[in-house]
Amino acid sequence: MPRLLIPVETADGETRVAASPETVRKFIGLGCTVSVERGAGARAGFVDTAYADAGAELVAAADASSWSQADLLLCVQPPSASALATLRRGALLVGLLSPYSNAELASALQGAGLSAMALELLPRISRAQSADALSSQANIAGYKSVLLGAGALDRYFPMLMTAAGTVQPARVVVLGAGVAGLQAVATARRLGAVVYVSDIRPAVKEQVESLGARFIDPPEMEDKPAESGGYAKQASEAFLAAQRQQLSDQLAEADVAICTAQVPGRRAPRLISEDMLDRMRPGAVVVDLAVAQGGNCADTQPSQTVDRKGVKLIGANDLPCTVPNHASALYARNLLALLEPTLKDGQLILDTEDELIAGCLIAQDGSIRRGDVLTPGAN
Ligand code: NAI
Repeated sequence: MPRLLIPVETADGETRVAASPETVRKFIGLGCTVSVERGAGARAGFVDTAYADAGAELVAAADASSWSQADLLLCVQPPSASALATLRRGALLVGLLSPYSNAELASALQGAGLSAMALELLPRISRAQSADALSSQANIAGYKSVLLGAGALDRYFPMLMTAAGTVQPARVVVLGAGVAGLQAVATARRLGAVVYVSDIRPAVKEQVESLGARFIDPPEMEDKPAESGGYAKQASEAFLAAQRQQLSDQLAEADVAICTAQVPGRRAPRLISEDMLDRMRPGAVVVDLAVAQGGNCADTQPSQTVDRKGVKLIGANDLPCTVPNHASALYARNLLALLEPTLKDGQLILDTEDELIAGCLIAQDGSIRRGDVLTPGAN
């Protein structure tokens, strides 16, 4: 009978938890025993008694004996290397493990002889959609980014006809129309803004227009960035320069810019330069969701709001943590969807021939399987 452990998340600012009472009940139905560390769900609105009512055993946080007995540790962010060292050899860690070039994680997995699945590497195929934690969390980030932008803006979002005259709708520019960007478009449209969108994947034009926004066609250049598995590949510096040129006029008239452009495993493309910020009007707002990956916008700082000549630059790296109840509930369901097929007849069996498992299983019993992403000593 696989023993699951749900720890208290220890990363700074993390408010989410990897299981909800609902998913605990389902894991138990699949033949697992579940231990939840006391207080694990407190910041996400899931009290200890709700987990106990669902059938979990409550254990003390960071209790070495529960860690050493666990077969499966479900986390949001990776625990510290010292905590991982207390797991038994062969235990499986599943979570958003930030695998790209994470030498510290690679060494910890090797040293402790662990297996690990990084949800960031789940292939983007239809069968994987219910387990797609990047999407569930990016959706939340896209929604919340617009609320933050609207809250910080010195203007209304919708067009209003009042006795004191007509107010024009806010102009919002969304950079990157992936999961977060499309949710930002939908949210800004619901609030009544006029929305312009830039992305380098022409395939998103139709999606953007169906949400009532206007698509800014990417620059016409020979060396267009390629696409693979639904993701953009890195653009050349010449392409990005042409793109910045094109966006500069749009941003000069914008009230809010929402930055979501990313390329997996790479530094985020720099789309808003100092010169472009100089042209934005005082009172405008930039919300940079890519700030932890180097930022789409100059001068944004993680988890900080910077006032730059009257333009507010919001470094929004942790937005899912600001909606912890829904972020956790959806994340927990993602984990359940991923693991349900591996739990058969009261046993945990990883089918490494399965495309989903093979894609995200970064380590097995201490040996690194995705050396293309995760290289010990590469930091
Ligand atoms: P992401 O977070 O890696 O990137 C966000 C957006 O930034 C992407 O649309 C990308 O094209 C864009 N971008 C990159 N460089 C840019 C630049 N220089 N200028 C403007 N935009 C730039 O991507 P995300 O949101 O995680 O997903 C990307 C796509 O993957 C989705 O739109 C969808 O097509 C696909 N997908 C498929 C799923 C499935 O089938 N299971 C699930 C989720 C997403």
